[in-house]
Amino acid sequence: MFCCSNCGYKSVKWLGKCPFCQGWESFCEEAEISSSVGVVVTKEKAAPQLLKDIVHTDYKRINVGIDEFDRILGGGLVTGEIILLGGEPGVGKSTLLLEISSKLSKVGKTLYVSAEESAQQVGLRAKRLDANLNNLYVVGEDNLQTIFGYIKDDGFKFIMVDSIQVVYCPLYEGVKGSVSQIRGSADYLTQIAKFHGVVIIIVGHVTKDGSIAGPKLLEHIVDCVFYFEGENLSNYRILRAMKNRFGPTGDIAVFEMNSKGLKEVKRTTDLFLPHKEAAVSGSCVVCVIEGLRPILIELQSLVSKANFGTVRRRSIGFDFNRSSLLIAIIEKRLKISLSSEDVFLNVAGGLRVVDPAADLGVVMAIISSCKDKELPASSVFIAEVGLAGELRKVNNINLRLKSVERGGFKNCFIPESNLKEIDSNFKFNIVGFSSLKDVVEDVFK
Ligand SMILES: Nc1ncnc2c1ncn2[C@@H]1O[C@H](COP(=O)(O)OP(=O)(O)OP(=O)(O)O)[C@@H](O)[C@H]1O
Ligand SMILES: [Mg+2]
Repeated sequence: MFCCSNCGYKSVKWLGKCPFCQGWESFCEEAEISSSVGVVVTKEKAAPQLLKDIVHTDYKRINVGIDEFDRILGGGLVTGEIILLGGEPGVGKSTLLLEISSKLSKVGKTLYVSAEESAQQVGLRAKRLDANLNNLYVVGEDNLQTIFGYIKDDGFKFIMVDSIQVVYCPLYEGVKGSVSQIRGSADYLTQIAKFHGVVIIIVGHVTKDGSIAGPKLLEHIVDCVFYFEGENLSNYRILRAMKNRFGPTGDIAVFEMNSKGLKEVKRTTDLFLPHKEAAVSGSCVVCVIEGLRPILIELQSLVSKANFGTVRRRSIGFDFNRSSLLIAIIEKRLKISLSSEDVFLNVAGGLRVVDPAADLGVVMAIISSCKDKELPASSVFIAEVGLAGELRKVNNINLRLKSVERGGFKNCFIPESNLKEIDSNFKFNIVGFSSLKDVVEDVFK
């Protein structure tokens, strides 16, 4: 059979495009799974229970001891939880997993299943991280049935699997890393977690296009999906909650990678703000929300005369189509011609900005560079810009203003429609505008 690696769609012949998920070149050959596979982790029958009885049982969350991780979990681990930790090669998944195991081993017996690296290599890393080693066991095994044996016999409470792509379950056909094996192994591990009340964290590799390798189904099976990202953010790594059955999603935790391992970064407000004081033309500070956290970042723009017939437009860290749209708005609504200018845009610090509240900042940076005039010192610009050149309301304005205040800025330009939402007395100057034209006239008067 041929199987789509994105959605699991099956076909008897190879297809270039999946008719179900419309993915291209996602089909790979698989031995067909025999229908007799009904994974047997436990044979006890689950009798129907009264929900009333279950509700009153006191469930306690398990604190890992890494505050940032506990926070995005929604207050700690839940018994029987299975978590998928995804990330690109070399981003630090194994390091994070070992840090978590080291903390968890203080709570209960922990097994680190290292199918990718030898036990010695894990030992070397543990030494570098200065991990707690008392209750932490390592096994270099890739057969999940053997691992299940250890869990049953030795009473492990926390299991780390590094990674799902290199373990296998003999109950399923197919080679390691194939769609049916990954799906089968995840299902097998889920049953272990649910029936035996252990917490399992599995590592999953991410493909080039950013999805966790293997079928999408993997993300449906598990309780939480966390992505570890940020190899372009120098030493900073962001852990993002994409799915969480027991807590909020979209939230992020920031870590700093150093030779001693990962260190949590609690104050993220001005992490990506290199030159706060020195105002230069083309540079503008904006406040974007990443997950649930406000982050102040610096946008830089360079507008220069084009030497060749065609102008160049480049954008790093900001959506290219959105920047083209904003350039069109500048030309049409502000009557500033950029048709013979190259326009470059960069987000300092390597972050990718998707929050539309950065629109006004982009426009101000471009105009500032075009006029070669710096923006007023110590100012932050927050607003979404509409096609008619109007400033549109942004969400979470109070959260953003609080971080602006903490960053020590003196002026903040926001949409007029947001003014009435402000709920506390901020000590700095807040000005509201309804159109882009008014802000530009006020700033560059
Ligand atoms: N001595 C060190 N000092 C600082 N950083 C280090 C040191 N050793 C390793 N690192 C960091 O750890 C990262 C590798 O971590 P890790 O092996 O946990 O990644 P991974 O995501 O598990 O990789 P893989 O996909 O290969 O399993 C390196 O990219 C590097 O940034
Ligand atoms: Mg690894």
